[in-house]
Amino acid sequence: MTQGFSEEVAQRYDRWYQTPFGRWADGLEKALVAELLGPPPAEPGKRSILDIGCGTGQWELWLAEMGYEVTGIDISESMVAKARAKLGDRAKVELMSATELDFPDNSFDHALMVTLLGFVDKPEVVLAEAVRVARNSVIAGVVNGQSVLGIWYKLKGILRKAGYGRPHFYTPGELARLVRQVLAASGKSAEISWRGAICLRQLLWRKSARCPFRGFIAMRADLDGHQLTGSDEDAG
Ligand SMILES: C[S@@+](CC[C@H](N)C(=O)[O-])C[C@H]1O[C@@H](n2cnc3c(N)ncnc32)[C@H](O)[C@@H]1O
Repeated sequence: MTQGFSEEVAQRYDRWYQTPFGRWADGLEKALVAELLGPPPAEPGKRSILDIGCGTGQWELWLAEMGYEVTGIDISESMVAKARAKLGDRAKVELMSATELDFPDNSFDHALMVTLLGFVDKPEVVLAEAVRVARNSVIAGVVNGQSVLGIWYKLKGILRKAGYGRPHFYTPGELARLVRQVLAASGKSAEISWRGAICLRQLLWRKSARCPFRGFIAMRADLDGHQLTGSDEDAG
C-alpha cells in the first residue's frame, strides 16, 4: 500500500501550484522562507538543505535554483516519482520516513519542512529528527489553524474527502510550544523566530510580519547560536 499521499493526490497536488491562488500563495510562502533562510549560498552547492516531506519537488527546485545543495525525502512513492521526474540531477530525492531519517547527525546546514507537520502522527519525532540532522537551522512551515485559510481547509476536509486525511492545522503558539519542547529534549541550544504570510488584509498587516492570523506560518529554530533574526516573543 502507498504510504503518504496517493498517486491521485500527487497529480492534483502539482496542479494546485498552477492555479492563480496557488501561484500567489506559493510566491508569498517562498518569500517568507527565503527571509528566514537568510542570504542564499555565495557559491552554488556551498550550503546544504534537507527538504523533509518534499512532495512533488516544488520547493526543492526553488532551493536548487538559489544555489543550495538539495536533498528531499518523502514517504509517498507517487510524490517521490514526481519529484524525481521534475528535478532530474538538480536535487536528490529519497523515499524515506521523516520519523527515521537515514542520515548521520549534523549532515545538513538546514532542514526545511513545508506543510508536513500537520500530516504526521508523531510531529515531535519528525521535528527531533530534523534537529538531529541539521547544523544551522530547522524551518517548519504550516497552514495557520487560526487563519481564514486554515479554517477554510478544515471545512473542506470535513465536507468532502480531499484525499489528504484530516491534517492538523497548527496555530503559531501551538507550533512554538512543540518546537520548544523538542529543542529542550535535543541537547542543542536554539533561538526561535517566526513570520507569517498570506492575509486578506495583506497591505495593512505588512508592517507586522508576525500577525498571528496569516494563512501560512514559518518558524525557524537557530541551532547552537546560529541566530538570524528576531525572537519568539509573539509566538505565545
Ligand atoms: C502537504 S504535502 C507537502 C509537500 C511539499 N512540502 C510542498 O509543500 O509542496 C505533505 C507531504 O508529506 C509527505 N509525508 C507525510 N507523512 C510523511 C512521513 N512520515 N515522512 C515523510 N513524508 C511524509 C506526504 O507524502 C506529502 O508529500
